[in-house]
Amino acid sequence: MSEAKRLAAEKALEYVQRDMVIGVGTGSTVAYFIDGLAKLPFPIKAAVSSSEQSTAQLKKHGIEVMELNHAGTLELYVDGADECDGNNNLIKGGGAALTREKIIAEASKQFVCIIDPSKQVPVLGTFPLPVEVIPMARSLVAREILQRTGGQPVWRMGTTTDNGNQILDVHNLAITDPVALERELNQIPGVVAVGLFARRKADVVIVGGTPPQVI
Ligand code: A5P
Repeated sequence: MSEAKRLAAEKALEYVQRDMVIGVGTGSTVAYFIDGLAKLPFPIKAAVSSSEQSTAQLKKHGIEVMELNHAGTLELYVDGADECDGNNNLIKGGGAALTREKIIAEASKQFVCIIDPSKQVPVLGTFPLPVEVIPMARSLVAREILQRTGGQPVWRMGTTTDNGNQILDVHNLAITDPVALERELNQIPGVVAVGLFARRKADVVIVGGTPPQVI
């Protein structure tokens, strides 16, 4: 699938314009996009990064990394996903970067999501839904999720997010109403962010292939 990821990332470079400040996601697909940014025939102004991992890669290529607070509204955000349904709703957070990813997606006019074909699903939920939680609330949130959704929350032990928090991965969900579930889970005290991108979903999804499919 790495070739499909590379092809999706390459296609997303067509959305990049000279002197833009670009929001950059996290993951193996985005890694191809960052490498591509470094090879563009024109400069970008800077990037706003969603993780320490992407920041390191951007800086390695000499791309300036800007704080979102200084960047204002972004024209473009490019990021991968763990699952994508037929309406461009997403599950994200497999790499534990969901909170910053969600913030940057919200701050961006256009969200271009780059995936390989294995990420396309009819209904979200086969990939366990990541939820970032404040550490002291982990058990409370897990009980609430079980009660409210019937899904099985599993603590991603050993993972601390860039924000110092923990991740619950919720198994056995069939997410037929992503907007409603996102809203419901966001109401639980201790939840920092839910890896469902439905209220702010992708504007464009690029599925890597020959040729890439733009949805
Ligand atoms: C990071 O937290 C995730 O949201 C990634 O965007 C997602 O896991 C996709 O990762 P890959 O591009 O590595 O498949």
